Formats: sequence, structure tokens, C-alpha cells
Amino acid sequence: MVVNIERLFSKRAKKLRASEIRELLKITQIPNMISFAGGLPNPHAFPVEIIHECIEKTFKKDIRNALQYGTTEGLASLRGALAERMKKKKQINCELYDLLITSGSQQALSLVAICLLDPGDTYLTSVPAYLGAIQAFSAYEANCESIPMNEEGIDIDSLRRNIERLRRTGIQPKFIYTVPTFQNPSGETMSLGHRKELLNIASEYDFLIVEDDPYGELYFEGGPIPPIKSFDTKGRVIYTSTFSKILAPGFRLGWVVASKEILEKLILAKQAADLCTNVFSQYVAYEYVHGGYLDKQVEQIRCIYKKKRDIMLKTIKKYFPKEVKWTMPHGGMFIWITLPKRIDTRFMFQKAIAKKVAYVVGDAFYPDGLNFNSMRLNFSYSDDDTIREGIQRLAEVIKEELTISYDEEPFVAEGV
Ligand SMILES: Cc1ncc(COP(=O)(O)O)c(C=O)c1O
Repeated sequence: MVVNIERLFSKRAKKLRASEIRELLKITQIPNMISFAGGLPNPHAFPVEIIHECIEKTFKKDIRNALQYGTTEGLASLRGALAERMKKKKQINCELYDLLITSGSQQALSLVAICLLDPGDTYLTSVPAYLGAIQAFSAYEANCESIPMNEEGIDIDSLRRNIERLRRTGIQPKFIYTVPTFQNPSGETMSLGHRKELLNIASEYDFLIVEDDPYGELYFEGGPIPPIKSFDTKGRVIYTSTFSKILAPGFRLGWVVASKEILEKLILAKQAADLCTNVFSQYVAYEYVHGGYLDKQVEQIRCIYKKKRDIMLKTIKKYFPKEVKWTMPHGGMFIWITLPKRIDTRFMFQKAIAKKVAYVVGDAFYPDGLNFNSMRLNFSYSDDDTIREGIQRLAEVIKEELTISYDEEPFVAEGV
């Protein structure tokens, strides 16, 4: 008998949709394609020799424990080293017991969803938003309320208006999700004033803040910016960060700092999900942090990415038509491009692919869709000459698109 698998899927599984970005990454494998689409760190920024040394240290010191199961909370020495670093570098007042190691910060987002979201619950997010978070939260059937971003990171007036509107219909959001520093996808950073104001509003209306901070260490100018968590004295912020952008994503290591009550629940959820995070990775990462390699490596990554950002911005400025607008990120890995309203970047995508250059359509970062004239460009992955060439190709595509005047609504391609 043929298995009727559709009948057997849970309602939740039936609602799961393929990630647009994952689908796009397949296109980037086409030979000679220049891809600004993936959110990938540059593999030449991976500290390969240092990782080798840290692995050797792990073998010499404690290899049998490194190959054993570990605690769900994570390796105590690594948690201690991270807590120390967060106090020193981010002014986050935490000890090792306030910290949980996760399988990448993506798992932290999933655990937050498991522990905080019932079907039909509402959360807030600034938009454009990190797609992986929207996926993690919608897997648990939550409703998303989008709050527009502005040059200070989030439109505070719109946030208040939306919360009040929800209130009138008896809806109280559980949390707001935000990437306040060098945001993915926009590259924008929330001002200090808005960080504090967001915390005040969360307190006034009694919801949590989920602060996702994978890029905070990757500043190119102006120095580090205190996370929202550093102002939190009441346990209102769940903070997550990751080794993916400061070591290598293949380690699959992230961490969460949260109040005791929240952390206890996250640990129970994690136990059910995977028992513990890759123990070998944790031992090696401990050597990386404890040995002082991380600080030196982060400096190098900043230097490499700053140069790439500058090349991309300079080439954009030189070749993009004057109608195009772009963000000026002071760190991170992304630039956000806004085209005139009549341009549909989904429609234009096929033309870009024909010219062998790829981007992510802006619409993908809006839970409600409805943003057709923007795109995300990644500057960390490609080598310098490829950035120059790719931006010139994209400029050609945009110029051609601008010369077409649509008499009717442009055709919107189904998925890309
Ligand atoms: C904003 C944001 N959060 C979370 C993640 C997931 O990172 P990780 O590799 O730690 O799971 C990413 C990855 O690109 C990201 O951009």
C-alpha cells in the first residue's frame, strides 16, 4: 500500500514552507554565478591554523571527555569564559549559571518559540526581519506583527500605536524580536536612545525582548555598542549570540543569556531537542576563547569585512543609477538596497540570474510580504574583484529595468 504521507503530517508540518534563502543558495551553485545572496561569512576569515592548535590542545588535555555526552547547559569552562567576556566587552552582567550553550543561535530562537509561543500567540518584530527567526517562530504557529524600522533602528511611534491597537482587541504580545546591531538584512543599527526606550516600552506593556546579536563584534568604526541586555536589570531581555561569525558556523555553537526562570525552561526544551550541544566543538571553542585567540581573530575579521564593505559601497556609488538608495552599515555583513517603487525585485531576479549575479529579494524579509522594491546584498563572502564585477553586473540589470515602463502591474514570479 502506498503511504499517504500528506495525511500523516501534523498540521504544523503542513504549514512549513521552504526557505526562500535556502532555495536561492542552490542557484548560487551555478558556475560563474556571483552571489550576494547567501548570508555566509568569508571562508578565508576562518582561523584554520588556530582551530588546528585548539583541536591539538583538546586532544592533549581531555579528549575522552570531549568525545563524551555533555550537560544540556553546556561545558562549564566555556560558559564561564563567555560570561567573563560578555561582562568585559558587552557590559552584560552575567555569570556562568546565567548562560546556556545552544546548537547555533538558531536553536536558541527555536527554544524561545517552544517555551513562549502557543498557537495563535502574537509576537512583534521590526521589519525587514531575519528570515530564520520568522521561520522558527511561525513553526509554532504564532502570529507576527511587523513594526517598521527607521534610521534609529525601530519606529517607536509605530510600535506604540501597534501595541495599543492589539490591546484594544485583547491581544498582548509575548515578546519583540530584534537584531539591534548591524541587522540582518538591513545592516542598520538601533540608536542607544531607542534601545533604552524599547526596554521601557517592554516594561510598560509587560512583554519580553528577544535580542539576537550575531554581528555586534563585527564593528568597522565607532567601537562596540552596548546591547539592550546590558541595560536590563529585571530579566526582561533574552539575549542570544553565536560563534558562527567570530569563529566558523560549522561549529554550530551559540549561547543564550536569560533570567533563571526562563533559562530553566529553555534547558528542559533543549534536553528534549538534542540532549546537549556538540561537546567536541565546545572544548575546541573553549581553547579559542580562553587562549585569547578570539579577540585577535575578531580584529582580523573586522579588517577583512570593512575592506569588502568599502569596495561594495564605492562600486555601488559609482555604477548604480541615482534613483537607487542604500544603507551604510557600520559593521556586519549586509547592505540593503531600495529601488524606485515601480521596480519589482522578484521580477528582476530572473534577469539578474541571466546576467549571473544573485541577491535576496527584499520581500523575503517581510512576514506579510508587500515589499517588492528592495533587496539584500551580502558583502562578506565574495572576494574583492568579484564584488566589483558583481555590482557592475547588477547595475546593468537595474538600469535596464528602470528603462522599462510598465503599463500594467509587473508579473510577480512564484518563488525564486
Ligand atoms: C540575525 C541572525 N540570527 C541568527 C542566525 C543563526 O546563526 P547560527 O549560525 O548561530 O545558528 C543568523 C545567521 O545568519 C542571523 O543572521
